[in-house]
Amino acid sequence: MTKVCVIGAGPSGITALKNLIDQGLDAVCYDFNTDVGGNWIYNENVSHSSVFETTHIISSKTLSQYADFTFDEFEKGLPDYPSHDQLRRYFQAYAAKFKLYPYIKFETLVISCELNESNQWVVQTSKGGQTTTEVFSHLVVCNGHHWKPRMPHYPGNFTGKLMHSHEFKNSTPFKGQRILVIGGGNSACDVAVETSRVSTKTTISWRRGYRIVPKFLFGKPSDVVASRMAFLPTRLKFFFSELTVKIFSGSNKNYGLQEPEHAITGTHPTINEELLYKVRHGKVFPKGDIERFEGQQVIFKDGSVEEFDTIIACTGYILAHPFFKEDFLNYSEGDVPLYLKMLHEKYDNLFFVGMFQPLGCIWPAAELQSKIAARAIKGMWKRPENIVDLCHREVTHPHLNQIKTPRHTITVDFHLFTNELKKHLPANYVSKSPVL
Ligand SMILES: Cc1cc2nc3c(=O)[nH]c(=O)nc-3n(C[C@H](O)[C@H](O)[C@H](O)COP(=O)(O)OP(=O)(O)OC[C@H]3O[C@@H](n4cnc5c(N)ncnc54)[C@H](O)[C@@H]3O)c2cc1C
Ligand SMILES: NC(=O)c1ccc[n+]([C@@H]2O[C@H](COP(=O)([O-])OP(=O)(O)OC[C@H]3O[C@@H](n4cnc5c(N)ncnc54)[C@H](OP(=O)(O)O)[C@@H]3O)[C@@H](O)[C@H]2O)c1
Repeated sequence: MTKVCVIGAGPSGITALKNLIDQGLDAVCYDFNTDVGGNWIYNENVSHSSVFETTHIISSKTLSQYADFTFDEFEKGLPDYPSHDQLRRYFQAYAAKFKLYPYIKFETLVISCELNESNQWVVQTSKGGQTTTEVFSHLVVCNGHHWKPRMPHYPGNFTGKLMHSHEFKNSTPFKGQRILVIGGGNSACDVAVETSRVSTKTTISWRRGYRIVPKFLFGKPSDVVASRMAFLPTRLKFFFSELTVKIFSGSNKNYGLQEPEHAITGTHPTINEELLYKVRHGKVFPKGDIERFEGQQVIFKDGSVEEFDTIIACTGYILAHPFFKEDFLNYSEGDVPLYLKMLHEKYDNLFFVGMFQPLGCIWPAAELQSKIAARAIKGMWKRPENIVDLCHREVTHPHLNQIKTPRHTITVDFHLFTNELKKHLPANYVSKSPVL
């Protein structure tokens, strides 16, 4: 019996499901939400989604579409960087076009997944207080990796409001407040820009320097410009990217920001068009790392002290799979040795789709992973015999040499990764016809 369980109906889960069905496989997808879209279903209350009212993607539409269903096939005239709501509609249109809805069980939480003695997955779900157990031959995990907050810890207590960017929905509650934003990633810079529109003062604390990449270079989306250099050897490609950004924005010192001590690819890229502008307009104030809290005061490592009403920690997310027992699998810290960021060295009926952090967009590569996974389950793609070595190699030979912080365990270069995945697929892998 081949029966596949897909966990999650976000951008990764829907393409996993679509490709399983394309191969004629029996599949069921569970999602605890009420519709397709995952992170892209904005909710003004705290939910799975981490987008806020004004979020637009940072990977441009040209490089952020499924091959099987492009943005032009969805809706002509979308902007270069669509909003979260345009993306929600795109993902829901994908699910409708490929007739996926009948296969998705909504409002159903996957509670636990365990292998039994017959190497089958025993999956426990909960819906409306009722628990159900089902058995599957294969498990495809697409539960997302930007929903469980990673909170920072400092000595002392902060007696104002301390929250994570996951809870940030819009700037309204911060009107007239003194805000401290922690972090130098995309959430931190977006949140600082947003709060600065209404706050009395917004300060941003970076524990290191980052190169801020503008959304547009030479009038084109930056990732489109970068992709024109994709044919160059990696070092040269990144050298030119770094140089271009530096020519455009100048040195961080001009903005009172720390200079980066790593190459542009040494961290996940921070792409923001407005932060530097806000700094030079006296709306966002840069600071270094934090030493400790004392009441509403924050003591910075440079010895300066400031008082804040609210601290918004934009300090990233933890990779979490709460449906697995911790001693079975735990990627919340340290290496993630999965071949093609998808296959486990030991469990040949377990697949992860979309669990990588590209310099670029997630779902086009998740689509390619899904096609390989579906072919593997169908018996059309053979798992390499040296999978143990290949899993190990993922860790020892990353595409990019990045700083060792918790967020950098699953990075891939978009172009290298998608090219690598395509090598495992036939030339005619694009499949646009809806399954009838
Ligand atoms: C603010 C923000 C902006 C971003 N911008 C970009 C961008 O510009 N480009 C880009 O490529 N990526 C971006 N990302 C990354 C984001 O993770 C991906 O865009 C995308 O949402 C990944 O899709 P996914 O399906 O893997 O995960 P998700 O979108 O998180 O979907 C996971 C799904 O699984 C379901 N689920 C989880 N656990 C369970 C369970 N136990 N039982 C049942 N269902 C479950 C959830 O309800 C959800 O529907 C951004 C992330 C954030 C936070
Ligand atoms: N508009 C958009 O499309 C958009 C908006 C927001 C987020 N996103 C995406 O969502 C994902 C998550 O982004 P994110 O910005 O939330 O998280 P992130 O990329 O993990 O960045 C976290 C930031 O917080 C810092 N940090 C972590 N722990 C810290 C600590 N204890 N003290 C001080 N600083 C700490 C990190 O520093 P180090 O550099 O030292 O690791 C980093 O600067 C990314 O894929 C991102 O691209 C996209």
